Amino acid sequence: MKRREFCKLTVMSAAALSSPLLFARQKETFKEIDWNNARLSLKAYRSVSDVGSWNLADIEGQIPKEIEGHLLRVGPGLKVHHNTRLHHFFDGDAFYQSFRFSQGQVKFSAQFIETPERVEEKKAGKMLFNEFGTMAPKKTRKLKNQPNINIIPWRKNYLALSEGGNPVMLNGHDLAYKEEHDFFNTLPHNVGFSAHPKIDPYTGVGYTFGIKQGASMALMVYEMNPESGKLKELYRLRQDGIYMIHDFMVSENYIVFIIPPAYFKLTDIIFNRGSMAEALKYDPSLGSRVLILDKKRKGKVREISIPSSLFFHHGNLYEKDGLLNLTTCHAKDASLLKHISKWHEPAQKGLARPDVFRLVLDPNKGEVLDKEVITRKHDFPTFNKLYSGKEARFLYAAEMADHNDPMRFSGISKIDIQTKTLTKYSAEKDETLGEPVFQEKKANGGQKEEDHGYLFVPGYQSTRDESFLDILDAKNMRREARLWLGSFFPVGFHGNFIADSTY
Ligand SMILES: [Fe+2]
Repeated sequence: MKRREFCKLTVMSAAALSSPLLFARQKETFKEIDWNNARLSLKAYRSVSDVGSWNLADIEGQIPKEIEGHLLRVGPGLKVHHNTRLHHFFDGDAFYQSFRFSQGQVKFSAQFIETPERVEEKKAGKMLFNEFGTMAPKKTRKLKNQPNINIIPWRKNYLALSEGGNPVMLNGHDLAYKEEHDFFNTLPHNVGFSAHPKIDPYTGVGYTFGIKQGASMALMVYEMNPESGKLKELYRLRQDGIYMIHDFMVSENYIVFIIPPAYFKLTDIIFNRGSMAEALKYDPSLGSRVLILDKKRKGKVREISIPSSLFFHHGNLYEKDGLLNLTTCHAKDASLLKHISKWHEPAQKGLARPDVFRLVLDPNKGEVLDKEVITRKHDFPTFNKLYSGKEARFLYAAEMADHNDPMRFSGISKIDIQTKTLTKYSAEKDETLGEPVFQEKKANGGQKEEDHGYLFVPGYQSTRDESFLDILDAKNMRREARLWLGSFFPVGFHGNFIADSTY
């Protein structure tokens, strides 16, 4: 989702449109939530009450001793900010949770990312910036760079990602705020940065995209060079609007985007009529578009029209016999967008959750040759990243099967794309889970199988009012260990496991 898509655009527009008669909005008062009866998904993403570092001691099962490395996750840490309720699922200061595994022990650390905007608001004791779905009490055009979506390792540091603004770089050794990173002046000031860059696990070369704001709106596609730390522009594709593009896919030779008919209404943003989330519209009559780009810029960009649906996350993309095979999660309408924008309100009945699809595309003819549903009601897909861009059989995703609480993740499924069968790990009724992160096991004297790995799954249990991290064996989806965190922490969005011991 594009939180800061229009940040600079609106700042520029503000110069022409701003009035000295900025007014103070009525301070919002809100009804306290009855937490005893609140839905699990709401409780699991409320504001944190603890920060700090400690060794995890309350462990069920055994942490496999071979797990060595760093699991790092991020998400919003607040849902009330300086006495203002944040309306959107995506709103809230970035908060990381770090798990350092060594010899069967885990050191846990949980902290806010102290961005300049957060520090400024703390000094002022009030909300000074708009969030994606919540306007500051005093009217402003300033939108916060909120790196709470994903966090990745990059050249011995970490990049916390917000989508619209520059990545926020954190020190590799202590995760302290370092800078807003522009890749040595190669990320233009008016271009955002994806929250889902793709890094080749063998070469370290990355791919990313951003939306160029201003008069000449464009989808910008870059290669990320791990040696120089710079970006190289691959594509600049003019767009007739700013569309919601959250994820993309990369195979050996191609880069694929699927663009839903969800777009930001420019006039609402230019005239500062409300939050970015309120400016986000969905028009199913526009259809969705698949863009197929050649990595080496050979041939023209192919565009395929497909029926409208809402896309957030994709699985893997690979080439076989000259065709592109991909997996993706998409919902039949935008009811989910409405639900997450009014996060404290109950979900409407029949809300459309994403289904997992497999598509086969012909990149030369620009046609969809095959499309089938693999399973229903799943999101947060992941897979063994050693198979990025290669033929992979398994996808792991979080299930959304609770009709009364559609954003509760009630289990993790191992999806066999070949046989279309699922092996499930189910949460208890008083639990909700989060995005699984796959990490391959160490080689055991021979060829590693694709599902020879662990899944790290965050979760929250309401009976104990405590968060946990589950470690599953990806082969059989059985739990090896549950690590109780000792307090409540919001489940968060995305993360990565970094096996590199130099971090
Ligand atoms: Fe995402």
